[in-house]
Amino acid sequence: MATAPTYYIKTYGCQMNERDSEIMAGQLDQIGYQASPTDADADLIIINTCAVRGSAEDHAFGYIGQLKQMKDSHPDLQLAVAGCMAQEPGTVAWIKRHAPHVDLVFGTHNLHELPRLLDEVSEHDETVIEVWKSAGDVVEHLPSHRNDGVRAFVNIIYGCDKFCTYCIVPFTRGKERSRELRLVVDEVRALADEGYQDITVLGQNVNSYGHDLDPVLDLADLLESLASIDGIRWLHYITPHPRDFSQRLIEAIAQSQKITHHVHLPVQAGSNPILKRMNRKYTREGYLDLVSRVKKAIPDVSLTTDIIVGFPGETEDDFQQTLDLVRTVRYDAAFTFIYSPREGTPAARWEGRDPVPNPIKKDRLNRLMELQYQISLEANLNMLGKTEVVLVEGLSRKNPNVWAGRTQSNKVVLLDRDPAVDLIDRFVPVRIEQAKTFYLSGCQAGAPLSGPAPRRRIELPLM
Ligand code: 5AD
Ligand code: SF4
Repeated sequence: MATAPTYYIKTYGCQMNERDSEIMAGQLDQIGYQASPTDADADLIIINTCAVRGSAEDHAFGYIGQLKQMKDSHPDLQLAVAGCMAQEPGTVAWIKRHAPHVDLVFGTHNLHELPRLLDEVSEHDETVIEVWKSAGDVVEHLPSHRNDGVRAFVNIIYGCDKFCTYCIVPFTRGKERSRELRLVVDEVRALADEGYQDITVLGQNVNSYGHDLDPVLDLADLLESLASIDGIRWLHYITPHPRDFSQRLIEAIAQSQKITHHVHLPVQAGSNPILKRMNRKYTREGYLDLVSRVKKAIPDVSLTTDIIVGFPGETEDDFQQTLDLVRTVRYDAAFTFIYSPREGTPAARWEGRDPVPNPIKKDRLNRLMELQYQISLEANLNMLGKTEVVLVEGLSRKNPNVWAGRTQSNKVVLLDRDPAVDLIDRFVPVRIEQAKTFYLSGCQAGAPLSGPAPRRRIELPLM
């Protein structure tokens, strides 16, 4: 009997990409492929790319280049490039010129066609390129190969219509399209029946959920429906936008024990002129008002943000306003980025005329991180002595005698491990005894709230 062909998917970027990779894997399982744990033994390698910053693109280009050698020594190996970079004309031109060893290029809008595209590859010698410029209707009921364990991701809205001037996403992911509430609820109910307890709903901009449906819905409607499903313990939603963060949503979060009390509010910049040029459609004052409403309604909220430094034309005074905003809000954590010009976006044109010099960009990033690390440590020190429920995700990378997991508000917690007791994928009360900038640690403070997960997961180190 012939052995099944194997596949390996290398995923860059955000959770939306992770979810797309699960759907690609599901389709491959259905046509008789088997997952391979590494790229070394795979018959098909798919590179699911991210275009949000130059650094993510450079990693993918490097990996595509490396695979040439592998293809030379294993000519039957098939290579496919997918994801956001594939939507960019520059990538397709680069592959044609520098990477003819790639067999297939497909984009974010036609990943449901993967089996047919692989048939095309077997009929052609040259690279098959099928990238749709725009999205069709949402395709439902695709097979999917999810990770085992208790944590699952569910798409609720695709695309983004916000057109922030630095961002490539509206070009690579197309216009906003919400999934029908009934279909999302059915999917989550089926996941709960399979033993998934921690659900993260996904979208480039989840706060727009339902605005395009008839009747119009709010993200709060969806989260409340999902919270009522038996077996679901925790609900997360990523990524929100401050602009459409409704008061109704704040109240829904405040009243729910299941909806995470982690609120991610990407501010991007602290000065009004920069926010205006970024096309964020809120002001510093409006954002701070939102933050104070969130803090008032959800006193135990954990707030995080995304910040870009070195946007074209950003002055030292603009940057000081970002630092000042960070001091005012006191985020638990911040994801900080140096502005990266994305071809085809308005800000990339301004970068040509009015760039912030590289050493200044780096210096601003360092100053911002130093401030944020100090605040993160102080926020974590406030957790000392508290008992938190932790979902154990795996062994600590640095110490196999320690479990690593996360609280409902997404803080990493380490706890001592008794090798005789398997806590993986279980919700465990932990008393916090130590606080560092990036994690907390403590000891078990009671019996796990949940039994062993129905599907065993491979123990992956977390940190
Ligand atoms: N340069 C730097 N950071 C960016 N982000 C999005 N586009 C860019 C860019 N061109 C950041 C934003 C966003 C996060 C996902 O990535 O902060 O919230
Ligand atoms: Fe990009 Fe802005 Fe849309 Fe977020 S809201 S994906 S930053 S355009």
